Amino acid sequence: MSFLSQASLTDEFDDLKEEYETLVKQNQVYKEKLADLKKIQSKCLSLLSHQNKKYKQLRQALEGSDSSLSEEDAALEKKITERQKSCRSIQENLPKPNSFLLNVIVGQISLSLLTKAEKYDYKQGYEQFKLYTTIIMLVYSLVNLFIVQYSNSHLIQRFIDAIYHFMIVWYYCTLVLRENILRHNGSRIKGWWVIHHYLTVLLSGILLIWPDSISYRMFRTQFMVFGVYLNFLQLLQYYYQSGCLYRLRALGEKSDMDITVAEEFQAWMWRGLTFLLPFLFFGYLFQLYNAITLYYIANHPDCQEWMVSSSAVIFFILFLGNSSTLSKVVIDKFKSKGSKTKAA
Ligand code: COA
Repeated sequence: MSFLSQASLTDEFDDLKEEYETLVKQNQVYKEKLADLKKIQSKCLSLLSHQNKKYKQLRQALEGSDSSLSEEDAALEKKITERQKSCRSIQENLPKPNSFLLNVIVGQISLSLLTKAEKYDYKQGYEQFKLYTTIIMLVYSLVNLFIVQYSNSHLIQRFIDAIYHFMIVWYYCTLVLRENILRHNGSRIKGWWVIHHYLTVLLSGILLIWPDSISYRMFRTQFMVFGVYLNFLQLLQYYYQSGCLYRLRALGEKSDMDITVAEEFQAWMWRGLTFLLPFLFFGYLFQLYNAITLYYIANHPDCQEWMVSSSAVIFFILFLGNSSTLSKVVIDKFKSKGSKTKAA
């Protein structure tokens, strides 16, 4: 390297000195603020825990008294309820310990999202992840159904099917993890949908190891058609769920994932739900049909594989759990719509 170019590099390095010093200072400020933030967080958590404990004790004392509540007691109870509600909303901005499951999967790092914007972005990312993966799986299942189906090699078909089954296992494992993080941050996803995803992982795992056999051939096309339908259904669900999320945010209603439904949002939600329901119920009937088909295959004299009857049982459980949960969701929504109309 010539002397001149060496000198110009040194000049350039020296020019960076001032900026570097600012960076070091800023970093120092940042570290101090971070330490302060941790201190304030622990202080808030300890105050909150004390407050919660005290309100609980006060409520128990009020409820424990033998005589009926006096007017003063009733007023105090109302105030306690309001204060507890306020404490819950304070809690939303503070970190909380992970559930046992999250600790087992990711270890002891904080998975609390502390602002509304972070929660919204995470949920939106979750919905987008579902959308992109569903599109890939839809294309793959269509290719499998309309092209690979006609391949002469059973080995190639089984291999391509196995990739599809593996994709489903991976997709649902990821969903379970993300949904646990969402639930940890206040999302009100019903427990059944999470259980549904665990069962789907199990089912896809069984399908993955089901050897190429007469029984597998008997069910293959039906499962591929079901796969196409399920992916199509998930696209419809995506438009409904992301529509809900977008509107709740636009309405300014999504206060830390605690939904207070506005009229405008209700109207949109009911339109979306009414459109979606027949497709969902048809999907559940398809699951029942799969269970029945597998039951008949299991009783076929050439069927040797245990995967057939176990898949039949899982499809049946999915049918029962999905249709009962969906019916309950719709009935609850109707009831809360009725009570809101009465209150108005
Ligand atoms: N998966 C993940 N999250 C779900 C969910 C599902 N299947 N169903 C609802 N949620 C979430 C909602 O996004 C909402 O989250 P938030 O608290 O963070 O805002 C929360 O759970 C409460 O939702 P809820 O009011 O009970 O229902 P909804 O109006 O959002 O959706 C349905 C109702 C029926 C459309 C929805 O539950 C659904 O699509 N269910 C069918 C799922 C299914 O059958 N999948 C398998 C297909 S065979």
